[in-house]
Amino acid sequence: MADIAIDLGTANTLIEIRGEGLVVNEPSVVAVERDSGRVRAIGLEAKRMLGRTPEGIIAVRPMRDGVIADVDMADLMLRHFLERVLPRGLFKVKPTVVIGVPSGITEMEKRAVRAAVIAAGAKAVHLISEPMAAAIGVGLPVTSPKGSMVVNVGGGTSEIGVIALSGIVADASIRVAGNEMDEAIMGYVRKSRNLLIGEATAEGVKIQIGSAFPLEQEREMDVTGRDLVNGIPKSVRVNSVEIRECIQEPVFAIVAAVRRALETTPPELSSDIIDAGIVMTGGGAQLRGLGRLIERETGLPIHLDEQPLTCVVRGAARVLEDRGLYQSVLS
Ligand SMILES: Nc1ncnc2c1ncn2[C@@H]1O[C@H](COP(=O)(O)OP(=O)(O)OP(=O)(O)O)[C@@H](O)[C@H]1O
Ligand SMILES: [Mg+2]
Repeated sequence: MADIAIDLGTANTLIEIRGEGLVVNEPSVVAVERDSGRVRAIGLEAKRMLGRTPEGIIAVRPMRDGVIADVDMADLMLRHFLERVLPRGLFKVKPTVVIGVPSGITEMEKRAVRAAVIAAGAKAVHLISEPMAAAIGVGLPVTSPKGSMVVNVGGGTSEIGVIALSGIVADASIRVAGNEMDEAIMGYVRKSRNLLIGEATAEGVKIQIGSAFPLEQEREMDVTGRDLVNGIPKSVRVNSVEIRECIQEPVFAIVAAVRRALETTPPELSSDIIDAGIVMTGGGAQLRGLGRLIERETGLPIHLDEQPLTCVVRGAARVLEDRGLYQSVLS
């Protein structure tokens, strides 16, 4: 049976086929010819073009803030990934799909996701909220009466869920995550150095020297962009202290969302969370010191999953394997 788990993320799309494991793990990007609209590349190849695209090719991100922003491109991207991994024969046996969606998603946004998955050839679509999928993916006991807490920081959304008895009992979802940090870095370098840098360069700065908490050894690196004054390529050096300062706003928005979720958590479950702590998932959770900052701000122990980027798709796949146990987590 070709049951499929999908994490259609703002930054990355992951697909797991039941019994086969992870078969797609690529950036959610499509490269398109500006004039003809012809698609030149999808996924990893398209992301490589981002920012360094030859004249006339633009990189489109079909997802924004965790939801579909460009319906046609999202359909095309999803179909492309599915066709690559599903042999033709399997396409006739239409698969059942479990797909992760942000917990703050609207009804209209839900319909768009369902429609995209059906258009790609699925028989049935079940939506699961991202924090729930992430919690199942990391192995938290979501069906038990004991409370668990997960913080998923992606590219477009940060989602916090307190879970017990297969339901989300407290949550917070904000459309601020890794992308906003990249944008803050671009804005900062432009203002402080008169230098225009691309999205990919800004993301590289964040990954290499970005942090949420003072580092034992502060770092620095060179970044290259285009001088705003004379239009000529130029390199400047930036350090981890200034980068930490410039991403404070998105970082503290995430911390504030964690606090809000904790404030609405029923007291009986709070004691479970004090014992078990918070599990962090999603690519953005890998920002250096983010766990430490949240630990300091909440006083709760923080654990970062070992493979934070795959938690949601792993959780969705677990649900497919044990539909009986997880029936009530699907929406
Ligand atoms: N080492 C790292 N340090 C900081 N951020 C990182 C690191 N590695 C990846 N990221 C960031 O993680 C984000 C992508 O994470 P993820 O794949 O979980 O998001 P997504 O699921 O596509 O997005 P969303 O859940 O918001 O729709 C990007 O913003 C990326 O820059
Ligand atoms: Mg995600």
